[in-house]
Amino acid sequence: MLSGIQPTADSFHLGNYLGAVRQWVGMQDTHEAFYCVVDLHAITVQPDPKELRHRTRVAAAQLFAVGLDPERCTVFVQSHVPEHSELAWVLGSLTSMGEASRMTQFKDKSAKYGEGAAGVGLFTYPILQAADILLYQAHQVPVGADQKQHLELTRDLAQRFNHRLGQTFRLPEPFIMKGVEKIYDLQDPSAKMSKSSSSPQGILDVLEQPGSLRKKVMRAITDTGSEVKADEADKPGITNLLRIQSALTGVPVPDLEQRYAGQGYGAFKKDVAETVVEAFTPIRERTEALLADEDQLDRLLAIGAERARAVAGETMAQVRDRVGFLPRG
Ligand code: TYM
Repeated sequence: MLSGIQPTADSFHLGNYLGAVRQWVGMQDTHEAFYCVVDLHAITVQPDPKELRHRTRVAAAQLFAVGLDPERCTVFVQSHVPEHSELAWVLGSLTSMGEASRMTQFKDKSAKYGEGAAGVGLFTYPILQAADILLYQAHQVPVGADQKQHLELTRDLAQRFNHRLGQTFRLPEPFIMKGVEKIYDLQDPSAKMSKSSSSPQGILDVLEQPGSLRKKVMRAITDTGSEVKADEADKPGITNLLRIQSALTGVPVPDLEQRYAGQGYGAFKKDVAETVVEAFTPIRERTEALLADEDQLDRLLAIGAERARAVAGETMAQVRDRVGFLPRG
């Protein structure tokens, strides 16, 4: 299996954690797992180079801090494995303008830049994502619901390549965890919690200090009622908090509803805040410790890159041959 995360913020947020990264920890023991910090994807929004370097290390440190173990899985940085860009070029040649234009994430992101101003990299972003996945012959790709369309494109491209040039790629399946596939913005429970579009008040960052986390949970938008009950249409804010509490404690939502019956929102929110602080504090502390020794962190990433290159290299050698490139002398 393979999955990836962008180093486009100073921390992962609760949506990244529950929707994706937490599943990765469990899957490292059941799958041959590859986890990629996708810095090539991150440059589509033109970050400052110093900031990109820092955020890439923070992202990697966070992955180790949540429990990914370099002995049991492969954690690496995308730009360390040049085959990703190379396969993206090949797949781009099989992608029609029409299907790339239909990607909703591109439409959302490019809308921010205004007509014609978004970079071509943002447009071809899902093709690079397909390359990430197909290089490792991934069976499964654990992601949040927002990546579903990119996974469909990946399957289409794999199928097209196999059909035209001979069986080469395995068709990957998205692995989307029910209940946490879309965590919502605390200030706007109709929108997903998002690094690029949520306000700071709407996001809970894994590396955030406890005081700030508590404040944000207590100020989360809820409806004017007082019953702690899941109801997506009428109580989206409370429903979001119930799902978060359930995912972090393992207590099913109906049991939580019973527990807080007649208690109002305040007591419930306080418990959610404490649960989040308890979940995030050890991750933050381990991340800080890992970041204190950059050389060691870089060494771990070099080991990951070497393992990733071995697998990616094998797939890419086959691809070059199928496409009709001459053998390298
Ligand atoms: P990114 O960096 O935006 O997010 C990383 C993962 O977090 C999930 N996620 C969420 N899940 C639930 N609720 C939310 N509010 C929420 N916000 C984000 C995302 O679905 C994702 O799984 N394009 C990818 C990165 C990528 C990738 C890949 C993923 C590049 N190559 C190959 C899988 C396989 C992205 O932007 O993720």
